[in-house]
Amino acid sequence: MNAKSKCKPADLAILGGEALFAQKLPAGQVNIPEWERFEKISTGIFERKYYSNHGPLAQEFEERLIALFGTKHACTVTNATIGLALASKISGLKPGDRVIVPAFTFAATVQALTWAGLIPVFCDVDPLTHTMTAQTAAPLLNGPDSREIRAILGVHLWGNACDIESLDALAREHGLLLFFDAAHAVGCTHKGISFGNFGACEVFSFHAAHALNSTEGGCVATNDDELAERVRNIRSSYGRHATVPIPVNANGRFSEMQAAFGLLSLEDFPENCARNARRFHAYADGLKAVPGLRFLQASPGERHNHQYVILEVDEKDFGLCRDDLARILNAENVSARGHFMPGMHRCPPYRDRFPQYVHALPVTDRLCERVMQLPSGQIVTDEHIAGICALVRFVHEHAEELSKALQA
Ligand SMILES: Cc1ncc(COP(=O)(O)O)c(C=O)c1O
Repeated sequence: MNAKSKCKPADLAILGGEALFAQKLPAGQVNIPEWERFEKISTGIFERKYYSNHGPLAQEFEERLIALFGTKHACTVTNATIGLALASKISGLKPGDRVIVPAFTFAATVQALTWAGLIPVFCDVDPLTHTMTAQTAAPLLNGPDSREIRAILGVHLWGNACDIESLDALAREHGLLLFFDAAHAVGCTHKGISFGNFGACEVFSFHAAHALNSTEGGCVATNDDELAERVRNIRSSYGRHATVPIPVNANGRFSEMQAAFGLLSLEDFPENCARNARRFHAYADGLKAVPGLRFLQASPGERHNHQYVILEVDEKDFGLCRDDLARILNAENVSARGHFMPGMHRCPPYRDRFPQYVHALPVTDRLCERVMQLPSGQIVTDEHIAGICALVRFVHEHAEELSKALQA
């Protein structure tokens, strides 16, 4: 790898030169524990011959999550998509109820509502934080779809809190349920309080590409005893107890193998987050002089997992649009990519069912064109980051020439 070898645009891989990196640098975390540790922790699974369904490792993992979040309950589930769907199903909402939700999010946030028979009311986001605020949500309560709105589902995108206090006040004023997709926010805090403690419940993801990973996995965290009991009941597929009624059963169980992986990932979590933070700052420092790039910063003073390195590319100031920059980086084996494009309001089936939102979310549309994720995680070294930053600076310096070359 030698970024200095890019002396002229023709040296770029997209124009026929040699790629900067021999192997692809992935965008996700890829925090894999050492085999010996995994072998040790999973031996007990084989000895006990108990693989699934809330075994001892899953119970231990839940206890550790409760300690991390400081919540009364942390109910592990197969993944966050299932967790969001189950939470939507058992929170007292009825099929046909409408839920305010940002369109700038992963498909699972909205699909979970659909799975539970709920109807999304798409909300725009704040241009600086990328999250829903009371200001972006409130007008919907007076809009044409306001009649059956019964809930707000906020998303703590990139691990940063959406406007929790104002959304809470809005929800109380209108008698709405408030709950959160906290898939990105494991281990993060808002005003010093861990996520997991806000709204009726918060749903986390332990997907392989996230800072805390159990290969696949998720959890519904809550301080509400009855809600937790409902989650435990619906996730078990046969109903755990008859103590609380649930509308249908599902299977959202968390296996012992997932728990084994998750427990190791929890051990490594502080170190992984600290390394993520160093990577983030290395990128931000390396590119601070480049016009047209804005990094999404963590809120000052908060604990953060820095699981994503997210920036916005302003075509006018940078000289190339996000997609062209991503194409150039991808050719160099740097997995840079856009996120959540198009917004959910423009994705089928929603764009056809709810055409009223297609042109109603200008900030979401703008972010879908500008947001980019850069590689972070275990295998990304300081040297890689220095190389990527040098490459991006080079691209900016030759933007005009490159723009013409890419169009040719
Ligand atoms: C905002 C958001 N919500 C939900 C999910 C779904 O998580 P999972 O893959 O654990 O189902 C993701 C996945 O990355 C996500 O980004």
